[in-house]
Amino acid sequence: MEYRLALIGFGNVGQGFTEILRDHGPRLLEQFGVRFRIVGVSDQLKGSVHDPAGLEPGELLDAVRLAGNFGGVQAVDRGWDGLEMARRSAADVVVELSYTDLETGEPATGHIRAALEAGKSVVTTNKGPIALHYAELSELAAERGLELGVEGTVMSGTPAVLNGMNLLRAAGIERVQGILNGTCNYILTRMEEGSTYEDALREAQENGYAEADPTGDVEGFDAAGKVVILANLLMGAPIGMEDVDRTGISALTPADIEAARDAGERWKLIGALEPRDGGVYASVRPERVPLSHPLASVSGATNAVTYSTELLGDVTLVGPGAGRLETGYAVLVDLLEIQRTAARRGA
Ligand code: HSE
Repeated sequence: MEYRLALIGFGNVGQGFTEILRDHGPRLLEQFGVRFRIVGVSDQLKGSVHDPAGLEPGELLDAVRLAGNFGGVQAVDRGWDGLEMARRSAADVVVELSYTDLETGEPATGHIRAALEAGKSVVTTNKGPIALHYAELSELAAERGLELGVEGTVMSGTPAVLNGMNLLRAAGIERVQGILNGTCNYILTRMEEGSTYEDALREAQENGYAEADPTGDVEGFDAAGKVVILANLLMGAPIGMEDVDRTGISALTPADIEAARDAGERWKLIGALEPRDGGVYASVRPERVPLSHPLASVSGATNAVTYSTELLGDVTLVGPGAGRLETGYAVLVDLLEIQRTAARRGA
């Protein structure tokens, strides 16, 4: 079986995913009987190439590494923006990886809508459209018998979303508590080790954890987006970004970090959902947790989430929360899920 893919956005995640296809394509074919062929890539900075016969992952990566753009890549069509790629490409699945905007959800939401309207399934790691417009987009996908994969929107490739939706929702998820932003956790860990806030943020950017505009990370918007996604997808709570009681980490000083350490505690940016007044109370805030707390030992860009369920009690997942290969892997997980769903339907 073969899926033709069009990538919108070729930053860290797009390149990480393409590296996975370049390096693991034969294994995926052998293990799962599926080949993923990239037929188009559109990136605001690097240009746009499309070839229904397929583009070589290695060639795309080399072009960007050596020239910073797709100018030297052989292609049939060029210059398509994200919307044109979504509409006109020969893809079965559009992989939407453009930058996250948690205020408008654009341009990603437009790309996703256009792809679904053109009869293409969508995989995205982009939190904007899913935190803001999941109900509309998932309904559009369902109406058309298409898939919308969103695993990478929370905890990168650590399987927090599909596990939650497919395997834990039936246990009745009553509360969620987690470290949901890799950049903040990395900064807090490095500050505890003696680094300055600025140096730690720069490292997080260099390592590909931070958003294009890291304000979204350090002010808690990114974690709030993930809390909203988990509330909607796992708890059926239709909350929005404006419902999250949010504080970031930018006001924490080295003295705060030291004071916590002296008291045998550690700062963590905690995202949480809990029942309140017949609804769900959502929050993101820095909290001092004792070293004995299960989340205290989660360090660096690692994330963790505890789902407190009625039937199973607490189930905790710990794993990477950001990073190019780690988030690229989430795209692969969603694509394999699309393949499994198609196989079950006998498509
Ligand atoms: N900027 C995000 C983080 C990327 O640091 O967690 C993953 O969503």
